[in-house]
This record gives sequence, C-alpha cells and structure tokens, in this order.
Amino acid sequence: MVSTRATHNILVASNRGPVSYTLDETGALTAKRGGGGLVSGLSAIGPDAGALWVCSALGDGDREAVRRGVGEDGVRMLDIDADTHEAAYNGIANSALWFVHHLLYQTPLEPVFDKEFRRQWAAYETYNHAFAEALAEEAAEGAAVLVQDYHLTLVPRMLRELRPDLRIGHFSHTPWAPPEYFRLLPDDIAAKVLGGILGADRAAFLTQRWADAFTDCCHAVLGPGIPSGTRIGVHGLGADADFLRERSHRPDVDERLAVLREQIGTAPDGSARKAIVRVDRTELSKNIVRGLLAFRELLEERPEWRERVVHVAFAYPSRQDLAVYRDYTAEVQRVADGINSQYGTPGWTPVLLNLKDDFARSLASYRLADVALVNPIRDGMNLVAKEVPVVSDDGCVLVLSREAGAYEELGEDAVVVNPYDVSGTARALHEALTMPVGERAERTKRLAAAATALPPAQWFLDQLHALDS
Ligand code: G6P
Repeated sequence: MVSTRATHNILVASNRGPVSYTLDETGALTAKRGGGGLVSGLSAIGPDAGALWVCSALGDGDREAVRRGVGEDGVRMLDIDADTHEAAYNGIANSALWFVHHLLYQTPLEPVFDKEFRRQWAAYETYNHAFAEALAEEAAEGAAVLVQDYHLTLVPRMLRELRPDLRIGHFSHTPWAPPEYFRLLPDDIAAKVLGGILGADRAAFLTQRWADAFTDCCHAVLGPGIPSGTRIGVHGLGADADFLRERSHRPDVDERLAVLREQIGTAPDGSARKAIVRVDRTELSKNIVRGLLAFRELLEERPEWRERVVHVAFAYPSRQDLAVYRDYTAEVQRVADGINSQYGTPGWTPVLLNLKDDFARSLASYRLADVALVNPIRDGMNLVAKEVPVVSDDGCVLVLSREAGAYEELGEDAVVVNPYDVSGTARALHEALTMPVGERAERTKRLAAAATALPPAQWFLDQLHALDS
C-alpha cells in the first residue's frame, strides 16, 4: 500500500547528501551545503517539483540533526545504525566494490573474502534495505527514483519489490570493472550486485566503456542476454561553465591566486616559473605517487627544467577511516618530501604539496596552471580534467590518462598517457611544457567546449526524460 507520506514525484538516493551538519562544543549545529552535479541538477528542476533527496546521516553532526528533527526541505537523512553504516560504507562500498571497479587490488595478497566480508555484506544489505524502505514510503504513485552509485546497488531490485509502480534508474559514477576483474568477487555477491542494478528500468553510466563493461559482466556472471530488460544508458556529466567562471573570479580566489604566484616564484632568468597542477582527493585510484615519480624523472632527465617548474599538488583527505588511505597519504607526503630534499634550492621548492581542502585555492590553481596532470589508474569521469580548461586564464595543456572516463571526450586535444608508465608520463609533461602557445590556446578552447557539452542540470534532466521514454 502507498503510504500517506508518499507525495514526492522525483526522488534521488545517494550515500552522501547535499547537506551535512557539524556539531560544535556548545552543542550548536552548523549546516554546510555541498556542490556537485546532482545538487545543481536537482536545483534546476525547481523547488515546486516535489523532489526529495534521501541520503545517509554521516557522522555525529548529521545524526544529531536527525535526532533533533533539524533538516532542510527536500532532504531526508537516514540515521542508519553507525556499525551497519561503517561496515556497508567502508567494508563493502569503499573497499570491495571501489577496489574492484578501480582495479586496485594487489592480487597476491588481496582480496580475502572471508567471514568478516560476509558480515560486512549483511550490513550492506541492511543499509540498502533502509534506503529502499524510505524511498518506498516517500514516493508518490509512479514517481521517478534515481539511485546513485556503488553504495546502493541493491536498492533498485529491493524497491521494485516494494513498489512495482515506480520508475527506477540507477547511475554509476565509477568505472565498471571488466568481467575477469569483477569476478574476483564471490559468485553469489557478483550476481547480487548485478541483479540489484538490473531491478532498475534503466542503468546508466558516465561513458560507453563502463556501460559495455557492465553488460559484459552481466553476460559473464548471469548468462547471455540481460534478463530483466533493463535499458542501458550513457550520460557523460560535464563541467558547469557558468558556475565555474563566476566562482573562479571572486575575491577569495584572486587572493589565493596571488599567494600561489608568490609561492611558485620566478626562475633565475626572471621569467615566471611554469606550474604543473593536480587537484584530487588523496585517493589510490588517482595515482598521485606515480605522478610525483614522473615529475622527479622529468627533473632527472631534463635538467633544464630545474628551477623553472613547480609541481602544485593538492591532495585532499579522503576516507581516512581506512588504513590503506592513511598509508597512501603518508606515501604521497614521503615522495614529495624526497623530491624537495633532492632537488630543492633555497629559492625553489619543486613540489608544493598541500593536503588541506580549499575549493577557492583549487580554482586559483586551475587559473594559473600551465599543465594539468590527470593520470588516474581508472576514473569514472574525472571532473578536474573538464574544469581546468574552463577556468584557465591563459590556456593549459591537459596531460590525461587514457583510463579516465574523460578521455573519451577529451582525448583528442589532450596529451594522453598510460597511467602506469612513469617515463611516458615524464615525457608527456615535457611535451606539455614545451607546447607552442598558439596550439595550447587552440586546444584549451576545444577542451573547454567538449568539457561543457552536458552541464549538470542537463545531465540530470536527460536521465529523468530517458526514464520517461
Ligand atoms: C566518488 C564517488 C561518490 C563519492 C565521492 C567522494 O566520486 O563516485 O559517490 O561521494 O567519490 O567519496 P566519499 O567516500 O567521500 O563520499
């Protein structure tokens, strides 16, 4: 039976919601609104559309907000028991599923799918079920429900069973693993993940490559043909040009730009030093360490760049509950320090590493970048690759991994690298640094056009329309 709360026509479900709360010592709650494609997509359909965003309460501030009944219209936070959330989010989503899709396992030692994994899997089912129940309760007859990402792969099937009247979409923001890698997962779990998504009317991906990999996995694990008749779609999320151009010229960004210019400094001949910029979460799949090693090899092999270039690396903390992420952050720091002590001079710090998140400073770095280094091992899309050309003041050369989703749209005008090939990446950096100004400007223009072809609001609306048709 459809509940009395069932008033919403459009619902979005994701682990991380559009708002989060922090609790200070005095007991006061402060709300912080996040950005991103879904936020601008939902705001584009307007406040009267009857939309609801269902998300998890993450951390003490969010839980306290739920307990006190504090919240925003159009957002429902689910206070799922902390241990269940921890096992589902860190154990299954961010370890097993994230690692499989980003090819991150070091297979002689990992993964080990044992009793502990089974315990986490049970929590993942409980957590997905909590979402399915909340959505079933809130959705109006025939509503459209857009379920997001690898945290919630079981929701479409669970929701379909509770509410056959709904139109359900699932969107994967990650890559999808090829079958031989996906099948590292125990067979029953692999089948449940695929079967869960196949409960949707439509399963969508950021690129054709990930959509094809999903279909290949269905054939390999479930047998030929996609049994449920789920339609497969592709929506390549683009950068939000209007927002970025306006935001990147506000005074806080100008201030940070001046500070960064000062830190980068000038070469011994008085010319401005070049900047190779990267901005990422400190995430194993982003391949930050190999990027640093490539920069070191550039300085080794091409001594003419010493004192004339700086690697600006912003690597923001992420998933620090997981030891492997903490270790990776320490490794990034260690390698950067090593380069600075080996090559640095009193007037030149070769690597400017900063681990503190600051969006305005990221935008400032986009404006001054001569080269943007985006070299992930695998990435669903990578929006930094799309944002830099839009924000750049004087044109920027994009050094881009062929394993990023963005490669499909930007590959022609980027300098493309195999992310494992450190020497190749070092050569690509040299090529990028020496690209003639005219060519660099032309390429930046084309990159910016391709990067903004499907802005977030349109990306979101396209998914809704595709669910209708
Ligand atoms: C990726 C995922 C998102 C996730 C984000 C940040 O982009 O596709 O679902 O929200 O990483 O990760 P976090 O674990 O901090 O939510």
